[in-house]
Amino acid sequence: MTDGMSDAVTLFVNAAQTVTCAGPARARRGSEMGDAGVMNGVGLAVQGERIVAVDSDAVLLRDYPTAARVDCERGLLAPGFVDSHTHAVFGKARYEEHELRATGVPYMEIARRGGGIHASVRDLRTRSNVELYELTVPRLARLAAGGVTTVEIKSGYGLTVSDELRTLEVVQQLARALPLRIVATCLGAHEIPLEYRDHEGGREEWIETLTQELFPEVAARSLATFADVFCEPGVFGVDETRRILAAASAVGLKAKLHADELHDGAAAALAAEIGAVSADHLAAVSARGVSALAASGTVATLLPATMLFLGTGRQAPARALIAGGGAVALATDLNPGTSPLQSFPLVMTLAVSELRMSAAETWVASTVNGAAALGLAGETGQLAPGFSADIAVHAVEDYRALPYWFGERLCRTAWARGRACHRMG
Ligand code: NIG
Ligand code: FE
Repeated sequence: MTDGMSDAVTLFVNAAQTVTCAGPARARRGSEMGDAGVMNGVGLAVQGERIVAVDSDAVLLRDYPTAARVDCERGLLAPGFVDSHTHAVFGKARYEEHELRATGVPYMEIARRGGGIHASVRDLRTRSNVELYELTVPRLARLAAGGVTTVEIKSGYGLTVSDELRTLEVVQQLARALPLRIVATCLGAHEIPLEYRDHEGGREEWIETLTQELFPEVAARSLATFADVFCEPGVFGVDETRRILAAASAVGLKAKLHADELHDGAAAALAAEIGAVSADHLAAVSARGVSALAASGTVATLLPATMLFLGTGRQAPARALIAGGGAVALATDLNPGTSPLQSFPLVMTLAVSELRMSAAETWVASTVNGAAALGLAGETGQLAPGFSADIAVHAVEDYRALPYWFGERLCRTAWARGRACHRMG
């Protein structure tokens, strides 16, 4: 099974506990999020890229007596995590901004001074595809080492048609080469590039370029599944975002939004209105935005590491979203400005300690709801027959141990689509 070519059955047995997250092939909403399908004495049968059975060890060993075995060594058997929001393709780190914010300079002020996203754009434009590819591989390996088996990657540090296309080409090469499942998002609307900010009518020109040139090309070459917009006062407004995402939708790119991250700009309500697949961040969302999202099919993707790293002392209202019947997902937001985080389990810790979620809710948010945030709820995020063999074994005996022992490396092995993508040590 580990070479991904064999159709022989492999059993995963001898787990102390199993988190299945099994259930319908859609996001869990509201109180449904409290059930992570935790079971004892349960293992899996995998054939090729698929899970074919989930049952007690005794039944599996009876039904597949000659199958190869993975001994979970009394660890925790679980679905691989779905990191549904990253900006993993970038060049250099931005250490200086971390320290600047510590002295009191806000994130948006750094951007106004030409830093922030603009700094990463200047840097990416100087790098070759090969360089970007080689910089990204170890980042994805670190995510996999935490148990991640599906990763979404956004462009957005190119901000010319050719540099955005190049970024998405690198993502496509990574998707073809690695066992991880990689989903691409075009974030050409990450910022107004500085060269368009400096003259009258520049914003309009950039929006035209995105909608008339970039999106059609991205769609024609199948370089992305989603389009995303940084909808935030000072970046793209609600009306601009609506237009940009309508144009994306017209060529078949589904909508995601960076919504109400730092200031409330009614972006969450827009996400609900247009039926976006997800609205991400939401640390500054209004009560109206919470109600709109909770009543919609849009997944609320929360990124607590970003707010921790920015030092805002503020977090998204996870409890209100869940109490209202919303679907919450969790992700790293891996990026060089606001979340240089390559450990998915740390997000679970922050979700319990800062977002006040239960451990079971963090598992659901990190697996089945992350999958739903990528339109993959029927494919990954559950240990259930028919689902992709996206599996992690952690060296703990209890599902609550992952958010609890924070900062530890506890994932022993991980498989994406039946292929090994991490082995500890
Ligand atoms: O998700 N807010 C916009 N995008 C990223 C940060 C990008 C950057 O600062 O490089 C985010 O926080
Ligand atoms: Fe982001």
